[in-house]
Amino acid sequence: MNDLYNDAYLNSTTEFINHIKEKSHNLLPLNGSPKNILEIGCGNGYDAIQLAEKNPLCQVTGIDIDEELISASIKNAADSKCSNVGFLLSDAEQMPFENNTFDIVRAERVFQHLKNVPAVMKEIYRVLKPGGTVSIIETDWPGMDIFIEDFSIAKKIIEILCQNVLSNGFASRKILLYFKESNIEKVDIDIFPLIMTKYPIATELIKFDHIIDIGIKNKTLTIEEKNIWLENIDFVSKNNCFNLTLNVVIYSGTKL
Ligand SMILES: C[S@@+](CC[C@H](N)C(=O)[O-])C[C@H]1O[C@@H](n2cnc3c(N)ncnc32)[C@H](O)[C@@H]1O
Repeated sequence: MNDLYNDAYLNSTTEFINHIKEKSHNLLPLNGSPKNILEIGCGNGYDAIQLAEKNPLCQVTGIDIDEELISASIKNAADSKCSNVGFLLSDAEQMPFENNTFDIVRAERVFQHLKNVPAVMKEIYRVLKPGGTVSIIETDWPGMDIFIEDFSIAKKIIEILCQNVLSNGFASRKILLYFKESNIEKVDIDIFPLIMTKYPIATELIKFDHIIDIGIKNKTLTIEEKNIWLENIDFVSKNNCFNLTLNVVIYSGTKL
């Protein structure tokens, strides 16, 4: 399992963005009818289980590349006594499903970690039924804003996160292009803002120490800049005025 993005981490993020998860579920074209739903990069299974519980006529399948998270998903589904959800260990680049299997394919905060987006988009298009919906939920990391005195260091830290920490840190800005290249049409976009006013919560979710370590290692950040960042964070925290804003974006499209 990835030490940074483990089961406990996913539970913390779920708590913080649960209202957005809920809205993303409600945006899916479900209308009480039986649907075959695929959740790509399902993590510990939270969304797949929620969707299955709320839509008893639907069959939900979650896949993830992480073996421990798939085990956690299977355990969580058993605890929920939900029988219309199943989980499989699989890379989204090569999925073990027939063509035209799913009415809905959903992927939340997964594209930012992908190494080969064209392969995944090709698979999404293949397994989606004609007329089916794909829903991609992404954190807009390049648009994150952090209020500290030295904004140039905040900008550098955001850039390190997008360029060096995440495999595909600009994913939120590229989904429209991915859809266009994959013949996904009739695109809808919904944006949900987030604000964090406590640094300990922000760094639990965004892992600034890790970003700074990587910046220092690859020499995109100096020790001096790190110290200014820490002083700035100390100042805004002591004055109770830390604030960080970012958006979560939901792109939905149709395979015509
Ligand atoms: C930030 S987590 C999000 C988990 C879940 N979607 C959620 O919103 O709680 C990203 C997930 O994508 C999975 N993942 C990354 N690359 C993948 C791939 N190529 N195929 C399948 N899953 C992948 C990771 O293992 C991880 O569980």
